[in-house]
Amino acid sequence: MITLGYILRHIREEKQLSLQSVSEASNIDVTLLSKIENGRRIATTDQVLRLAKVYGFDDTSTLLIQQQSDEIISKLNISDHDIAIKALQAAEAKVTYGSKYLSLFAEAIFAKPIALESRRYIGSKAKLIDWIMSTIKSETHDVHTFFDVFAGTGVVTKAALANFDYVFTNDFLYSNNIIYQAFFSDGDYDEVKIGDILDFYNEIDPNDLPHNYFSENYGDKYFEMNVAKLIGYIRDDIEKRKSALTDKEYCILIATLIYNIDKHANTVGHFDAYIKKPIKHQTLRLRMIEAESYENIRIFKQDSNLLAKELRADVAYIDPPYNSRQYCRFYHVYETLVKWDKPQLYGVAMKPAPENMSRYCTTKAINAFEDLIVSLNARYIVVSYNNTYNSKSSSSENKISLAQIKHILERCGTTHVYECAHRFFNTGKTDFNDHKELLFITTVDEELKRKSFTSLLCG
Ligand SMILES: C[S@@+](CC[C@H](N)C(=O)[O-])C[C@H]1O[C@@H](n2cnc3c(N)ncnc32)[C@H](O)[C@@H]1O
Repeated sequence: MITLGYILRHIREEKQLSLQSVSEASNIDVTLLSKIENGRRIATTDQVLRLAKVYGFDDTSTLLIQQQSDEIISKLNISDHDIAIKALQAAEAKVTYGSKYLSLFAEAIFAKPIALESRRYIGSKAKLIDWIMSTIKSETHDVHTFFDVFAGTGVVTKAALANFDYVFTNDFLYSNNIIYQAFFSDGDYDEVKIGDILDFYNEIDPNDLPHNYFSENYGDKYFEMNVAKLIGYIRDDIEKRKSALTDKEYCILIATLIYNIDKHANTVGHFDAYIKKPIKHQTLRLRMIEAESYENIRIFKQDSNLLAKELRADVAYIDPPYNSRQYCRFYHVYETLVKWDKPQLYGVAMKPAPENMSRYCTTKAINAFEDLIVSLNARYIVVSYNNTYNSKSSSSENKISLAQIKHILERCGTTHVYECAHRFFNTGKTDFNDHKELLFITTVDEELKRKSFTSLLCG
């Protein structure tokens, strides 16, 4: 690295002066001067000014700038190059903007689009995704197409898009589907137009709004009353604007609404119930989601078992519900917000009539699983599952045991099980100390599969 010392030595040699003569003229000890020139000591401001005089530099700032940059670099951790560069840019902005820097910083942080992974969702693989993807990649070969059969938040789909040529993604919930359209689909959208609409929403004072479907049903239950009023108003407004929006813009606006209200919900992370305590006053401000456009994806909203009969993929990734808790009941508020058919709601939890109830959450789960495995047309079948089968709470108890999964998969081909220790969602009733996330990877042997499931295939 070029230091002030290196530059000073260069100047001295250009001027054909000896170290000793410069030492005497500047009254800086010769050993110290040598250390400064070798970059082993940083010169003080006084020493720099004396050397500038000796070398006839009228503009002393040239050398002082070099001296201060040496001081800064000596404090930077330059082994992390990216952070070091950004720290320098931040330092520059702090000097340039003074007290205005804080508001610029806040704007930059809050203007960052919201990432797909930031959603609270039971069973999200966000924290496991690196392990899941690296295990799949190292244990499979020649994979081009990937089928995320129960996509949930879409975090596995997002990772698959970065790793494989083509991705099929599916989930039968309306809210998940609109989120995939918003984050992944290949439609046109104008970010400035969306930004203007969000600015308009962010300017609204909810005190000026009348009550609406959302505030009447969920106000001071799932959301603070003013936040609920604003959510209902915005959702109505998106519907009114629909004809002036592209499909992708419409989905981005609704997904943006879901992602922003997620952190305002008065829940433990899902809408099976709300917290029965007064809700503190809140202000809702919308920030756009991190929308992307991919050409290599097809998005489905179907029952997984029916869709499995239609598609062919190199890898089918299966992450079904684990227990009796139905996702359509957990996320009913988002389902209603997306459909916006303003249904009648029932019970304390204000749920609509059930729709998209999953067989995987019932005693028929094992049959559904076997039927899915038989229907899938894939070279590799990958199954995520965790070992909560023996949980003490019946709603957390797995509907299919690990032994049952293993047994079914082994009838399709060579099956290996991979394990990852992971901390788990826990409402308190269940002892999850031993919790493990497992990944089964089966290399499908078509012949073996046909023989093992002859009766089901014929049926
Ligand atoms: C465990 S979650 C998947 C989590 C996902 N891998 C992630 O990382 O977010 C299971 C998902 O399966 C969906 N699901 C359940 N039964 C289904 C079915 N029969 N057809 C389609 N989707 C279903 C649920 O809506 C839920 O989102």
